[in-house]
Amino acid sequence: MQKYENVTIFDHPLIRHKVAILRDKNTGMKEFRELVEEITTLMVFEAFKDVPTKTVMVETPLETTEQTMVADNAVTIVPILRAGLGMVNGVHTLFPTARVGHIGLYRDEETLEPHEYYCKLPDGIENSVVILLDPMLATGGSAVGAIDLLKKRGCKNIRLMNIIGVPQGVETVHKAHPDVKIYVSTLDRQLNDVGYILPGLGDAGDRLFGTK
Ligand code: PRP
Ligand code: URA
Repeated sequence: MQKYENVTIFDHPLIRHKVAILRDKNTGMKEFRELVEEITTLMVFEAFKDVPTKTVMVETPLETTEQTMVADNAVTIVPILRAGLGMVNGVHTLFPTARVGHIGLYRDEETLEPHEYYCKLPDGIENSVVILLDPMLATGGSAVGAIDLLKKRGCKNIRLMNIIGVPQGVETVHKAHPDVKIYVSTLDRQLNDVGYILPGLGDAGDRLFGTK
């Protein structure tokens, strides 16, 4: 996967440690939610070394100094509902004033095709870097659908962040949208015959929100 210029697979022991706990079927909802946020923060910290900045003047107790800060509206966060919601706080930890758009997609359990049921994006999103969030990248259908919607709204700079992906999903998104930067914390083996990631962590939305 690293063969693609726009695909980054994180191989950091701190992330691997947290993902191992996340996978464990005995990890409860509260810890699962906290880990999803923490992993997201670690990924965003690494992936946004090139975040747009602005120059500001700051008065210290001793003198005035030229400093660098993150540009206004530099990024917009867009979670794919539902499970992407679990990653939003992890981005807000680093970009506390970032606005949030929402894209609602669910996978048909039989066909695995994504179906859109909601889309609300902030004005001006097309001028910012979009951080598209979904913990799971399985067939890639949901991510491709969400990116299609964002591009229809004029978004030109989109970064997809997933906690767990499989090669099939990464390739599908990359082929459909080679300009989109894809960041996956951990690449798993394969999908099973009903579209779940192996070894994976099960259903991310259910584990985040306590549903079945
Ligand atoms: C899950 C997950 C992704 C999607 C990934 O959502 O959160 O959005 O499946 O699968 P794909 O790559 O094959 O499209 P799901 O449709 O189960 O909805 P939920 O988040 O509401 O549970
Ligand atoms: N969605 C999930 O929540 N888990 C998977 O393994 C695949 C898709």
